[in-house]
Amino acid sequence: MAAPPGFGNVNPRRLNRALGIAAVEALLATSQPRLFATIGELDWYARSHRHWIDDLSLRAGDRVLEVGCATGALTTYLAESGYRVTGLDRSNGMIRRARSDHPHLDLCFGDAASLPYDDDAFDAVVAASVINVVPDVKQVLSEMHRVCTPGGTISVLVPSTDFTEEDLDTLSETLGLTGFSEAALTKWHRGPAKMSASDLETLFRSVDLQPVVTRTYLDGMLIAASAHDRPI
Ligand SMILES: C[S@@+](CC[C@H](N)C(=O)[O-])C[C@H]1O[C@@H](n2cnc3c(N)ncnc32)[C@H](O)[C@@H]1O
Repeated sequence: MAAPPGFGNVNPRRLNRALGIAAVEALLATSQPRLFATIGELDWYARSHRHWIDDLSLRAGDRVLEVGCATGALTTYLAESGYRVTGLDRSNGMIRRARSDHPHLDLCFGDAASLPYDDDAFDAVVAASVINVVPDVKQVLSEMHRVCTPGGTISVLVPSTDFTEEDLDTLSETLGLTGFSEAALTKWHRGPAKMSASDLETLFRSVDLQPVVTRTYLDGMLIAASAHDRPI
C-alpha cells in the first residue's frame, strides 16, 4: 500500500498502525463501552475468549457468573453455549450498553470486590482481563471463590508477562491483521498490566484455590488460570 499524498517516505505499514492506534486511543478516551463493543466483535478477540471458555468444559445448564463483562460479548457466547449466565460490571456505561445491545441477557451492575450474591450461587465464575486491573485482586478472587459452589470452576484470563513485542509482530502477521484490528491487538499488548503463571498460582493459593491449571491463548499473549474440583 502506498503512503497517502503528503506523507513522503513514511513506512505505510507503520503509518497504518499509528492511525489505528490513534483510533483505539480516541475510543478509549471518549467511549470505553464503544471500544469494548467494537473489540468484542474482532475475530481474534472473540475466538481467543471462546476457546478459553470451551476449554473449561462446563456442563449444559451450569450457572455461570462473568465478572467484568463490559458490553456483554462473552456473556452472549456463554448464553449461546447453553449456560445460565449472569454478567456483572462496575461500570454503569458498560452495563447500559450491554443491556441495550443484548436485552435478553441477565446483566447486573456491581463491584467484584463485594459481589451481590449468596455463597455458592454459581457453578462457575469467570473473569477476562479483570484481575489484572483491579487494585484489590486478592479480595476479588476471594469473592469469586465465595460465590462459586464447592466443586465448581473459577477461571481468569489475563495478558501474559511472557509475551514480547517480537511475539506481537509475529502474531499480528500470522493473523493477517491490519488497521484497527492490528492496532487493538498492539494497544492491548502494550497497555494493561500483565501476569505470569507463577503470579497466578501464588494468587490462587492465597485464597485456597488449588490445584491451579494454567493454559495460554493467542500464541501466548493471554494466560488463563483455573481451579476445579473435577478433571478438565
Ligand atoms: C479490561 S476490561 C475487560 C472487559 C471484558 N471482560 C473483556 O475481556 O473484553 C475490564 C472490565 O472490568 C470492569 N471492572 C473493573 N473493575 C471492576 C470491579 N471491581 N468490579 C466489576 N467490574 C470491574 C471494567 O468496568 C471493565 O468492563
